[in-house]
Amino acid sequence: MDGHPAPALPNTLDLDRFRLRSYVESLQVTDELEVRESPEDLAALAQIMQANPRCVWFKKAGPEQAEVVGNVVASRKRLAKAFGVEPGAIVEELLRRLALPPQIVELPRGEAPVQQVVVKGNDVDVLSLPVHLQHAFDGAPYISATVDFSIDPATGLTNCGMRRLMMRGPQETGVDLNAPSDLRAIYMAAAARGEKLPVAYVIGMHPIDHVAATMKQPGDELELISSLRAAPLPVVKCITSDVLVPADAEIVLEGYLDPAGYIEKEGPYGEYLGYYGVVKMNPVFRLTAITRRRDALFQTATISGNRMDLTDTSNLEALRTELNAWEALKLVVREPVAVYAPVSAGGSMSLRFSLRQRYAGEARSAIHAILGTTAAKHIFAVDPDIDIFSDSQMEWAFGTRFQAEKDMIVATGVRLSPLDPSLFGGYSGTKAGFDLTWPLQHASKWELQIPQPPAYPGGKFASLEAALADGPKRFEELMAALGSRDGREIVRQIHALRTRGLDRDEMGRYFIKQRK
Ligand SMILES: Cc1cc2nc3c(=O)[nH]c(=O)nc-3n(C[C@H](O)[C@H](O)[C@H](O)COP(=O)(O)O)c2cc1C
Repeated sequence: MDGHPAPALPNTLDLDRFRLRSYVESLQVTDELEVRESPEDLAALAQIMQANPRCVWFKKAGPEQAEVVGNVVASRKRLAKAFGVEPGAIVEELLRRLALPPQIVELPRGEAPVQQVVVKGNDVDVLSLPVHLQHAFDGAPYISATVDFSIDPATGLTNCGMRRLMMRGPQETGVDLNAPSDLRAIYMAAAARGEKLPVAYVIGMHPIDHVAATMKQPGDELELISSLRAAPLPVVKCITSDVLVPADAEIVLEGYLDPAGYIEKEGPYGEYLGYYGVVKMNPVFRLTAITRRRDALFQTATISGNRMDLTDTSNLEALRTELNAWEALKLVVREPVAVYAPVSAGGSMSLRFSLRQRYAGEARSAIHAILGTTAAKHIFAVDPDIDIFSDSQMEWAFGTRFQAEKDMIVATGVRLSPLDPSLFGGYSGTKAGFDLTWPLQHASKWELQIPQPPAYPGGKFASLEAALADGPKRFEELMAALGSRDGREIVRQIHALRTRGLDRDEMGRYFIKQRK
């Protein structure tokens, strides 16, 4: 395809390194994987994965005894493992990788692992895949871990996004194209011309590919996947269209979005904020082929329920929110320290950041910047002594460093996700920022230091009088000065000194008043 380097050196490519199965197998040596060897009905899968902290690998799902894996990226630990970094360092690693030059290597049709098995024409049957019902009120079983690939005819660039498919029949599915997205714009333009839009839905990809698919970055998104993998990306043209897909994926559903427009009911579906999305009018995807690896591993993504922190969607959303927030922070703040989008709030609704404030008002400027550039509805700014990954420290800061009257920023009438149930169907609402940083003029006060157990610093002295003659001392320093491992005998000595001019300064340090 135009814009990509010519096919080169396919024999240097490791076509298993970034396959989903390799990643899941790498979890076997950790406590992050639950392997279910026993046969399970498709009807049982959702219950087993609901709020399960582990990635679940079903070895015999449904009557075909298919292999299904779910919850793959439903934890930051597993996402971090995919990038080979510690959980707190993913955003930094993403920023590093985004700057890497991409390399796309196109394999000839038929030579890609994902085309080892090809089914076309009337034999195509998406219901041959182990698709299961995910939530009680869902309109039908959904394929949830799908990434769509399409080419924007206006630019020739490949677009991708993670989007679900609702089962409607052997060769047609519903899609959800309501939220503003690049694919929605590409589809609307094609439908306006009365043209079919060729799309390939890829099932079963490395976690890094899913991170790329949910990101909003300009340019060709195959190149984005390559940069984030920090490796050349092997791609192959679909059998029934010219859409390029990762050659090392597990399964590809080829077809096109019907130009008839938003004419079919899709949903309800348990959505990414933990509640149901209602029935919506949406386009239809028509299948023309299914290609797959011989030992394809089918993937499903967890998405809803009241334990958002244990869903794939929330964990993916969090990374994209954090990346966007970090980019905004860098524009307005000298020393941003960390960002975190709590996964319990869906990974997009709340955003915490810490900064080393150099000038009054920096935290508030940063809150405004993040309010305007991310989906986050509630934004919390803290000083760097607060660990933003700790709910306990954040609650403490919120309870003790915040005055609603002066530390809250309220932005009304702004665009919010219509899936936010508190909008009751609206599209705009209220965002708020919470400045939990200390005002600079107060930040140096000694009483705002965090009390720690005594560590007994300072030199030794022969007597209490000698120690106090050296200068004012805290009780801790007096214990150190006299080598005390108890302290009560020092209270007695202090008591005795009261008649000889002992006093305390504003920090509570002991000293002897000079006699006039
Ligand atoms: C598991 C998962 C499922 C998603 N499903 C949908 C969906 O069905 N429809 C949608 O519009 N966005 C969905 N999203 C969000 C899109 O993937 C995301 O907005 C993406 O950046 C859109 O890509 P695009 O703007 O390049 O087309 C989903 C995200 C995740 C993590």
